[in-house]
Amino acid sequence: MFGKVRLISLLCVFSIIVSILIFSTFNPNSQSNFRKELVRNQHNQISITQEPSSSQFKDADEVFPEQRNGVHDSVILPDFEILVMVSPHHNQYSSLDFDDSIYCVFQSNSTSPAKFTGVLPSSRNKFFKCSIPNNLRDLKSIHPPILSTSPEDYYLSSDESLKEKVFSWNSSMCYDSFSTEEDVILFVKGANKNHLAINRSPSELKCLFSNGVNTVITSVTSSSQEVFRCLHPSETEIHGLGDEKIRVALQLNDSVVPSVAYYRPLARNLIHPEKKQLCASTMVHNVSKFLREWVIYHSRLGIDKFVFYDNGSEDGLQDVVNKLRGDYNIDIEVIFWPWPKTQEAGFSHSAIRSRESCTWMMYTDVDEFVFSPKWVNSLEPSSGMLKSLLPINISTLPSQKMGQVMIFCYEFGPSDQKVHPVEGVTQGYTCRSRKLNRHKSIVLLDAIDTSLFNVIHHFELKDGYQSKKVISRDAVVNHYKYQAWSEFQAKFKRRVSAYVADWTDPVNPMSKDRTPGLGFEPVEPKDWGERFCEVQDMGLKMLAQKWFGLVSSEGHIMVWQDA
Ligand SMILES: *[C@@H]1O[C@H](CO)[C@@H](O)[C@H](O)[C@H]1NC(C)=O
Ligand SMILES: *[C@@H]1O[C@H](CO)[C@@H](O)[C@H](O)[C@H]1NC(C)=O
Ligand SMILES: *[C@@H]1O[C@H](CO)[C@@H](O)[C@H](O)[C@H]1NC(C)=O
Ligand SMILES: *[C@@H]1O[C@H](CO)[C@@H](O)[C@H](O)[C@H]1NC(C)=O
Ligand SMILES: *[C@@H]1O[C@H](CO)[C@@H](O)[C@H](O)[C@H]1NC(C)=O
Ligand SMILES: *[C@@H]1O[C@H](CO)[C@@H](O)[C@H](O)[C@H]1NC(C)=O
Repeated sequence: MFGKVRLISLLCVFSIIVSILIFSTFNPNSQSNFRKELVRNQHNQISITQEPSSSQFKDADEVFPEQRNGVHDSVILPDFEILVMVSPHHNQYSSLDFDDSIYCVFQSNSTSPAKFTGVLPSSRNKFFKCSIPNNLRDLKSIHPPILSTSPEDYYLSSDESLKEKVFSWNSSMCYDSFSTEEDVILFVKGANKNHLAINRSPSELKCLFSNGVNTVITSVTSSSQEVFRCLHPSETEIHGLGDEKIRVALQLNDSVVPSVAYYRPLARNLIHPEKKQLCASTMVHNVSKFLREWVIYHSRLGIDKFVFYDNGSEDGLQDVVNKLRGDYNIDIEVIFWPWPKTQEAGFSHSAIRSRESCTWMMYTDVDEFVFSPKWVNSLEPSSGMLKSLLPINISTLPSQKMGQVMIFCYEFGPSDQKVHPVEGVTQGYTCRSRKLNRHKSIVLLDAIDTSLFNVIHHFELKDGYQSKKVISRDAVVNHYKYQAWSEFQAKFKRRVSAYVADWTDPVNPMSKDRTPGLGFEPVEPKDWGERFCEVQDMGLKMLAQKWFGLVSSEGHIMVWQDA
């Protein structure tokens, strides 16, 4: 297999050399009046030789230069990382696995190890992540790396004429797509001004589907945040695009947002899985040690299925998930969602994707536990407990359908814990602030507005649907927000939401998302352990002990410790 990889990589290098030859016949002086120049190579594919200067967006016929042989879509992420996306059409790489030693080969003989991070459901692309070598970090342009198991065999020129384009997460781009029965959801960063809630009108927009040679244009029916809904190309048009990978991009008037999103015509799903009444969806990243407690607890209280959006966890998520499936027969789906700071878009994705398999969806994080004071006298948890919060049996007028249940949160403090409590967060953190803060929600997926608009864990609903606020006597969310310093630091280092600032950035110091009284320095305050502590609240601790406590030879333990 390695020999094959090497051979194909050599072909890549060869095609790059061919490109250099093509480009070098070009006289750069003749282009001074043009912002950019296009060159067609012998395969009639279009390449950019000069980047647009004043606009982030490219002209329509420039948008698909990446389908040249051997060049993978590569996206520069924050913190000098680069994602390299390997198409399943690249057979030579499709057998590569995380067990192989693979390297990114960059320009100027620089290399770094490539970590396999996951497979994107939409395109089936395999994603590898590399750190950008130190000596390249100051460069204006980084070329897409080559992946190889024998990096010493390659040399990538840093020749400026070799202008293959990498994508950069800090500028506008189309990053993912999802096909439904009716339309294609396209996820695009930077086209709408999210934080100002200013959305472009769909009439200004078009969707482009292209195989690199032919392009099909369809209408946009909805534009909100990072979510755009496009019509499918017709059967004939899809047929015309052939078996090649079909890239899909958003066109704004005359310019096109660069795209690493691929179109997959809807696979007709003949077997309809049984629809679950209540599911839970959440973003996860390196939270494996919290997962057993959260999943076991909520599963026993009535979550029928869990849908995790995993952002390239590296702490054995799959093992924890497999064990929960095996030991407890819990239905868990893990979806690879590698896009930084795209929580809202991920929720939109999950809302539309789970429409067929779940009736209601709970959106809470893995440090949040739903708790009702009314449960404290029950000897056992029951699968009707969470469902009792749903307005299923509340008789309502047809004009007042309930589509969303909102549950308010209590924020717990470090409660003098120095490290992650081994018995679990419900056992370790017992001191909280007095006031209820923010709410989390359980949403009827069919009630969600077609825009899929959501903010801070709640969705905009279709006309005719209403949200219901649950009073704290009926239920609250225990949010273990400010944990032992070692945990808190890791958790808050990078916030997942697209619209809240990094806590170390000195912007928006009054925001609710900020930790009150914490400056901008990641240094443990002296009194951290006692902070956010106004009320001793042992409610869930005692209840969880009754329901999930075990007496073993070593003494008292919780079921989720039994790993
Ligand atoms: C990279 O390696 C090639 C071949 O080993 C060598 O000729 C070249 O000088 C090296 N370039 C740099 C920038 O180190
Ligand atoms: C985006 O990232 C590139 C390289 O990673 C950098 O050169 C550029 O200045 C960044 N642009 C913005 C707007 O931050
Ligand atoms: C696109 O065109 C519409 C009307 O044709 C115009 O109102 C809008 O400002 C244009 N948008 C851009 C980004 O040029
Ligand atoms: C995730 O966890 C792994 C294993 O503990 C660690 O090596 C990695 O640095 C963590 N990643 C982040 C972004 O914290
Ligand atoms: C995903 O992880 C990366 C670090 O590896 C981080 O930059 C990013 O904010 C995370 N995104 C989400 C949605 O968790
Ligand atoms: C809802 O009503 C149905 C009958 O209409 C009943 O079987 C079910 O137990 C009720 N569920 C709850 C949670 O009250």
